[in-house]
Amino acid sequence: MGLRLLAVGAAVPGQPVSNDAMAALVDTSDKWITTRTGIRTRYFCRDEKNADLAYRAALDALIHAGVAAEQVGVLLVSTFTPDHMSPTVACELRARLGLPEDTVVFDLNAACAGFLYGLQTARQLLLASSRPYALIVGSETLSRVLDFGDRSTCVLFGDGAAAVVAELATDSPFYWLGGSRGDAGGFLYCGGLWDKAKDEAPSVVHMQGQEVFRFAVEIIPYCIEGLLQKAGLQLADIDYVVCHQANVRIIQHVVKSLHARPEQFFVNVQRYGNTSSASIPLALNDMWRQHKLKPGSRVICVGFGAGFTWAACLFTW
Ligand code: UT7
Repeated sequence: MGLRLLAVGAAVPGQPVSNDAMAALVDTSDKWITTRTGIRTRYFCRDEKNADLAYRAALDALIHAGVAAEQVGVLLVSTFTPDHMSPTVACELRARLGLPEDTVVFDLNAACAGFLYGLQTARQLLLASSRPYALIVGSETLSRVLDFGDRSTCVLFGDGAAAVVAELATDSPFYWLGGSRGDAGGFLYCGGLWDKAKDEAPSVVHMQGQEVFRFAVEIIPYCIEGLLQKAGLQLADIDYVVCHQANVRIIQHVVKSLHARPEQFFVNVQRYGNTSSASIPLALNDMWRQHKLKPGSRVICVGFGAGFTWAACLFTW
């Protein structure tokens, strides 16, 4: 059974924060950030919570889809920065959106690949749902787990949320791949709970960027080739490839290794920085607003991140 994405919505907090503003916090420069990552701005929450961003994005998507709250049977929120360990963001969101009480709701965490795990999970859950639509949200408040004294991480990430409304569709094939290599070296790590052994609180993101970069440029072509093989298509048959937006240099590397057309690969990391599981739906939202997504457009999405977790899907808009 295929999956059709009907509409997308998004929310970011406050005003864009420039590279120059980051240079006032740590020893960095606009030149270093733009040339090494492509990032120009990002957004950080002040008072807004994860559930506030998720709510705005989800409502936006429901309005764009023309779908009423009582028609939603599944609500999944992908995040590794929830407001609380419990209750979940999804729980709060269901109540605020007025979805039926028996809607299946939970948060899931597959790092920056989480939104794509959400699509696949929602697809399975819709098969057992009495209602036709699923709402899948990627929502992150990374500013709460950043060390604003560590220039190697704080300039890279940002906050944001985006959501899609989806339904099962026999005439809209959906191919999916996913897995996890494991990161025994702890190259990308965020403790979460107070680690007594390390006496580490509060919890912040640590990253050895070059190791993650190497993983990314290997796994993205693997995913794209795997999906094309499953679907019996060539890269030339695909309208857009949407990689997790971590670094424009990762995308350029992949374009080169696949001998692809650069314009096939959508890039918006310059606006938001790396927003983890919100990055792929934020890209879909920008593409939709730029009228790039048309009925029949074939799109490949590829996510990768902590735990060297990865996922990818191919769908028709
Ligand atoms: O969402 C999960 C997926 N995450 C990713 O995919 C991230 C993948 N990795 C990357 O995007 C890149 O590795 C980074 C952008 C994180 C780093 O770029 P890099 O070209 O690999 O830089 P580097 O870590 O090798 O650091 C080069 C230099 C170092 O100085 P020395 O040792 O050469 O003197 C760093 O200390 O750049 C320095 N540096 C900075 N300088 C100015 C690191 N961060 C900064 C900074 N401003 N913000």
